[in-house]
Order: sequence, then structure tokens, then C-alpha cells
Amino acid sequence: MLQNKGHMGLTPIFSSDSDKNFFYQDLVETNIMKEVFKSDRIKLKYDYKKFDFQKAVIKNLISLGIIKKKDFVEINNDLSRLHEILSDREKNLDEHELNGVTRKFYEFDDKLQMLYVNFLTNVISPIFPNKIFYQKNPTFRFSFPQNKDKFIKRYHSDIMLGHPPRELNIWINITDVFSTNSLRIMNLKKSLSLLKKCDMNFEIFAERVQYDELFQKELKKNSCSLEMSYGYFTIFDSRCFHCTQQNRTDRTRVSMDIRIIQDTDFELLKRKYIGTGRKRSKFVPGEYYARKKI
Ligand SMILES: [Fe+2]
Repeated sequence: MLQNKGHMGLTPIFSSDSDKNFFYQDLVETNIMKEVFKSDRIKLKYDYKKFDFQKAVIKNLISLGIIKKKDFVEINNDLSRLHEILSDREKNLDEHELNGVTRKFYEFDDKLQMLYVNFLTNVISPIFPNKIFYQKNPTFRFSFPQNKDKFIKRYHSDIMLGHPPRELNIWINITDVFSTNSLRIMNLKKSLSLLKKCDMNFEIFAERVQYDELFQKELKKNSCSLEMSYGYFTIFDSRCFHCTQQNRTDRTRVSMDIRIIQDTDFELLKRKYIGTGRKRSKFVPGEYYARKKI
């Protein structure tokens, strides 16, 4: 028996055969990206001067005591040089591939939360024909340059961690992203064909991601890094496999990932969705999603 690594052991477990059937029906029936955008992935622009996440993130880094204002001045107030003023302890990854700064940043102030809700209300929600439920607390991630030991990319889709298939992923880069400091993503067609190669079984997929070298090569060959400057964001079909990678650039990446679901899509789901992680998040309004749709 292979040792559990990456997302192995964290894929959905079904309570019955009908539960499993409903899951796969939801998985194949969803087509929101195609219907709304005619594509499984879309890059859009917003007014970053109005929704200045960079400024808000810097303020929070200072108020959380992660950096000092005077040190930040020394790197020309450049968030992509953040790694230059942090200790290794704050930058090193734990077993979940999270570093100390990303963990500490789970807490942020009301101003940043307000900016987030404003952005969703004024930029994201108007894109969709229906009202949306949104992830109550966004996740901010910091990826620092690191050249140390081999890092196995954790290709995954959020669905295989329990999220509902009708959900959409939104990825917002708060620094410019390029090459390995960015998100790696695969288009929908290829993602579904690789899942088929794993008998549509996410546990098999998670295992091959970690242990099957040929499969790893195929994943890499069929995916690409998003290239975007600050002021853009990407929305993608939640069935697209994606992962972060070992940042071999000399620039820190800061990004925010959020999930939304149209109210009409939420109503169409055929089963209850629960996160497979420690928190066992319930993907319902008032829990993982904010109670109020916008
Ligand atoms: Fe993800």
C-alpha cells in the first residue's frame, strides 16, 4: 500500500450508490463557463486603483506584525520582493505546502474584508446572469522563490476535495505572475480525458499525480502557467485540473483564490457537498458561502 501523499485520502467518499450517481451527474451536467463565457477559462481586467488589493495586503502584513514598514521601504514598497525581508522560518513550507505567512494571513482586518465584498459586488457579480453565493473568507496565498528539494506538483480540482461541481474558481493575482510563480492549469477537455484515464476516480487520479512519473509528465505537458499582470483575474471551470508549482523565479507571488456559485446552480445540485479536509466545511450559504447572495 502506497503512503498517502498530496491529496490522496482526501477525495470524496460516497454514502451510497445513489449518492455517487448524483455526484457524477452533477459533474457531467455542469456547463456554466461555456454557457456564460463560451470558454472553460477567461481572463478579465478590473480597476485595481479602485480595488487596490496590493495596498490592502501590505497594510495587513504590517498590522499582523509580519513585516515592518521601514523594511518594506527598503525593498521599494515592492510586494514581489517580500521574500527579501522575511526569515526562512516564515517562508518554508509545511506538510500541506503552506508557509508561515500564508497561515498567518488567514486573519485579516475588516477593511480588507470590505474591499473583498465590494469587489465581488461590483466586479464579479455583474458578470453573471444570476445572483451569486461567494466564499465567505477568501484565501490569500504567498509563494516565495525557492530552489530547494524536489516538489511534486499537486494537480487537483477543488471538486476532488469536496466542492460542488457547479462552483467556479476565481484566481486573482495581486502581484504580476509569470512562469513558475503562477498557477498551472489544464483545459477542461484534457482534464476530463485524464480523469477518464483514471476510471473517473479522483482517488486514483490523486495517487497517479504523486507516484506515476509518466502521468506526471502528461500533466505537465498538457498544462500551462497563467501569465497576468496585476489588475487581471481568471475565472475557470472547477473541473479544470490546476496546481501551484515550485517558484523558481526571483519574485514573490501573492494571490487570492475564491469560489462562487450562482444561486440557480446551487439549487440544481443533486446532493450535499462537504469538504474532505479537517474542517469538513459545508458548502452551503451561511457556512462556507456568505449567507447573503449578491
Ligand atoms: Fe484548487
